[in-house]
Amino acid sequence: MPSPLLSFFSGRLAGRRAIETIVPERTFDDVILPPATRATLDQALGQVRNHNLIFGRWGLGERHATGLGLVFNFAGPPGTGKTICAEAIAHALGKKLLIVNYAEVESMWAGETPKNVASLFRAAAEQDAVLLFDEADAIAARRFGRTSHGLEREANTTVNVLLRELEGFNGVVIFATNLAANFDPAFERRIRTHVLFEMPGIDERERIWRVQLHPTKTPLADDVNFRALAERFAVSGGDIKNAVLKAATAAATEPGPDVGKRIHQRHFERAIEEVVAGKSVMQQSLFDGDVTSSDDPAVRAMQAAESRWRSTAIFALAVAGTALLVAVGALGAVLAR
Ligand SMILES: Nc1ncnc2c1ncn2[C@@H]1O[C@H](COP(=O)(O)OP(=O)(O)O)[C@@H](O)[C@H]1O
Ligand SMILES: [Mg+2]
Repeated sequence: MPSPLLSFFSGRLAGRRAIETIVPERTFDDVILPPATRATLDQALGQVRNHNLIFGRWGLGERHATGLGLVFNFAGPPGTGKTICAEAIAHALGKKLLIVNYAEVESMWAGETPKNVASLFRAAAEQDAVLLFDEADAIAARRFGRTSHGLEREANTTVNVLLRELEGFNGVVIFATNLAANFDPAFERRIRTHVLFEMPGIDERERIWRVQLHPTKTPLADDVNFRALAERFAVSGGDIKNAVLKAATAAATEPGPDVGKRIHQRHFERAIEEVVAGKSVMQQSLFDGDVTSSDDPAVRAMQAAESRWRSTAIFALAVAGTALLVAVGALGAVLAR
């Protein structure tokens, strides 16, 4: 039975759930990784398997009650396969995967994060699930030296609670973070292995394009050339996935009977161009946005609002000034009588 915490937060956010338990379907066959990443992951999986043997079947877990969990950090840029690999690990272990989108829950939990983090561990233990803290960069942050702000104090307590829970949890915990994640040293000591997820090279990209399609059912035109796409577009696996879905939509919405529809090279090219363009627009507005330039419609709107506000303020001042003059005049008249 799902814990009240989980059912409360499941489905709270449109589209994606902030916390959900899934029965993993995707396996390592669905993931194309550079050889070094793959090797580290295999090693991690080996550790988990030995761990289950030693502490489970050989009974040592019953003799030694703490420090039994295995903690991994998957670090890398967005769309490089961290989430899908956590799923593949859970699948390989025959366990469920409890996914916590940490970036989302932390803001929902304002004030209650430590308590809720503790119940996540309980839920994972009850369900014998691998626990994934996805987008967990904030969790990894250093404990603050001085704790003046309430928020800082909460972050501090959260890390302490996490350390305590990790200590008592006999299972697998995975943190997915970006490369810049800055771990508290005490936290760092609990992490067994950092697995580095790098951007795919040309060979990997070519294979990712293929693995995103159905091997027999997806209708491809003869001109499709994944090698050319892989060479031309240095993108992440997540970008390729998005482009494949866009290309398929474009091909499907073309006129004509369905049986004749094929995804052509031009569909893939246009789709990946759109994905790349969409990302650069986002980056521009996030990082390079020149707020003083009035070319930007948003900035112009802000400036217009400000000048409206200014004229309103001047008008109000003028009214107040006139009222004051009238009052002084009236007072003068009264006194003069
Ligand atoms: N290395 C990869 N091999 C195959 N597919 C990938 C790979 N990386 C990303 N993808 C595709 O992109 C999607 C998003 O990737 P995800 O695992 O969420 O990336 P991350 O967690 O690193 O942001 C996946 O569901 C998968 O379809
Ligand atoms: Mg992810």
